[in-house]
Amino acid sequence: MVGYLPSRPPCKQGVSLSKHTSLGVGGAADIFFTPQTLRELRDEMEWLQSRNIPFNILGGGTNVACRDKTFKGAIINTKVLNRAWHEGLRIKALSGCSLAMLVKRCCELGLSGLEPLVGIPGTIGGAVIMNAGGRHGNIGLLVEEVRALSPEGEERVYARPADRFGYRKGDFNGDIITEVVLKLKVESPSVVRKRVCTIMREKFAVQPLSARSAGCVFKNPQGESAGRLIDRCGLKGRCAGGMKISPVHANFIINESGGSFENFMELAGMAQDRVRENFGVEMEYEIKVF
Ligand code: EPU
Repeated sequence: MVGYLPSRPPCKQGVSLSKHTSLGVGGAADIFFTPQTLRELRDEMEWLQSRNIPFNILGGGTNVACRDKTFKGAIINTKVLNRAWHEGLRIKALSGCSLAMLVKRCCELGLSGLEPLVGIPGTIGGAVIMNAGGRHGNIGLLVEEVRALSPEGEERVYARPADRFGYRKGDFNGDIITEVVLKLKVESPSVVRKRVCTIMREKFAVQPLSARSAGCVFKNPQGESAGRLIDRCGLKGRCAGGMKISPVHANFIINESGGSFENFMELAGMAQDRVRENFGVEMEYEIKVF
């Protein structure tokens, strides 16, 4: 346990990461910061750097699997940095802004572009780092500017960062995203809403969106679907403790009843092994493990 801690309210000790992740697993974090302002975020990062304390950023916690043992270091949770502004075709959002809230706001404002992101939980910061999206498009296509802090606390601006985005990846040199500017198109609110409803209905039919999960576990291998490969290995419905390979979509592992990190990794490892044995394909994790 780290000895001295700042006494300000956003800092807590021993917070269980299982309560801050959609998968519902994870041990306690030595230090858990919830900065209320960008200034506080910078101060906290400087404080951690000056003491050589390792840290990880947690947005919505919807794409992560955290180990059951204590996280030796600090977690910085961005969820309170959640303000957003709208000006013409642009939306500027702090990194902790909920993606679902932004999609909803775009429907009301008659701004088109974010529809493919409907049904994806989490924050805009996490979505940018993962280049979240799907068949209908990825968030990288809409990003006009990213503001970030280097791990040393230096402010950086990435203008027109289109070439930094790849498949499920936004490359910002390990910096911590603080603000994102999205550029959208004008469209009638009813058209945007209709498109959102269609995509949502599509996803609900083929993904276990109401179960506890971390979304797709593996990236799709080139030209293939990880879900289809795992399915073809006959693994749908396979359980380990309280975790289960979703019977709806095999690239989702769902926490049905108090499953642990170990249970999760057992199923993920099994899927990886079987797919390698049967198809000679190496699947890479999409989720982040820490
Ligand atoms: N399939 C199966 N069995 C399964 C799952 C899928 O046979 O268990 C088949 C489907 O029938 C379909 C094909 O595989 O013919 C592709 O499946 P799907 O349309 O569900 O898309 P996906 O490639 O599995 C990707 C993204 C999803 C995104 C959807 C829809 C990745 C790893 N997955 O899934 O993103 O929502 O397209 O656009 O890129 C995520 O990244 O967390 C995620 C869920």
